[in-house]
Amino acid sequence: MYCALRSSAGRAATATLGCQASFRRLLQTPASADWQLQTAVAFDIDGVLVKGKQTLEAGRRALSILSGNNKHGKRIPFVLLTNGGGVSEAAKAADISSRLGVEIHASQIVLAHSPMQSLVHRYGSQHVLVVGGIKNRCAEIARSYGFTNVSTPNDLVAWKPSLWPFMRAPASDHLSQPVGRDFSEHPFAAVLVFHDSFDFGRDLQVVTDVLRSQDAAAGRPFVRRQTAPLFMSNEDLVFSNEYPLPRFGQGAYHVCLRAMWQALHAGTDAPQLEYSLFGKPHPVQYRYAEGLLDRIAGSVGGMTDFERLRRCRRIYAVGDNPAADIKGANAAGWTSVLVRTGVFAGPPGSNDAVNPAAAVVDHVEDAVNWIVETEARRLAEMEPSQQ
Ligand code: G3P
Ligand code: MG
Repeated sequence: MYCALRSSAGRAATATLGCQASFRRLLQTPASADWQLQTAVAFDIDGVLVKGKQTLEAGRRALSILSGNNKHGKRIPFVLLTNGGGVSEAAKAADISSRLGVEIHASQIVLAHSPMQSLVHRYGSQHVLVVGGIKNRCAEIARSYGFTNVSTPNDLVAWKPSLWPFMRAPASDHLSQPVGRDFSEHPFAAVLVFHDSFDFGRDLQVVTDVLRSQDAAAGRPFVRRQTAPLFMSNEDLVFSNEYPLPRFGQGAYHVCLRAMWQALHAGTDAPQLEYSLFGKPHPVQYRYAEGLLDRIAGSVGGMTDFERLRRCRRIYAVGDNPAADIKGANAAGWTSVLVRTGVFAGPPGSNDAVNPAAAVVDHVEDAVNWIVETEARRLAEMEPSQQ
């Protein structure tokens, strides 16, 4: 599952074998297994390795150091743990590999929506509204996860353009549902916000419509309660791209959605909007990443006692956003390292007051050097029996 992200067991098994071979290549090194089994790093992407379309040179050097180009000659396993998404794990791996010059496999990628695969057992065959991203890309990703009955806000606007009159009806290549579906006859079992909305206004209207329509069927009369569960993938209020100041993230959409719900129900006894969150800093993301790291360790050492492995493994998280990366890593019992190349803008020598990191450094190359030296000391101090 981790490698293939497919519902087909056969294809998943084949991909897992390929994945293990890829990890073996990744970790083939004269280094002893203690580093490979006891040390791991999770990198944030935006504001750490890249800034939007700009690739950070320190990111290239950092991944090269983890690949063994350090004075200890050690390779250290890593995953990329991002609140970004809107593409498949394979596409993100290919993009970052080519930009940073290091081979990265899809099974090293945790996107904000990756753990939403856990919802497939409940909603896999039910009608879900998938929100966010470009065109119908997130609908395709949802299908690859195993959701078989997916519609998008574009589909609803194509069904009735007056639903959101401030745009032209989408071109047919935006559609994920067969033209002609009557959404008043097809209630939604859940709303899944996979990625940042590319049309806040439309998606506020469409999601609010579904959540308060009788039976969660668009076009049916509004009722004073929430009629479908809402799952959202990334509550980052801001993130860092090539623009010199932080930009609104998906969390800004959440704020608007909550405010809209409150305004619509002001003075009534309607309950607050309820929703479940994925993405950093929530534990689900860290458990998912630990699962990927277990797979990497298993491919190196044939390790099956993952509980024991987790007790002796130190995971470092390198991030730029204290409210997401550092808060989540600290809560997961990981060692957090905060860089100054993204959202965090404290002066040199300072740390975040609310979510302090174990270390604060200028950029990701410094973070990796600090990690390698810290681990060299830690492993040297350990009794051989503990290694
Ligand atoms: O919230 C937007 C997203 O792009 C942040 O990504 O890699 O900083 O978690 P990242
Ligand atoms: Mg970031």
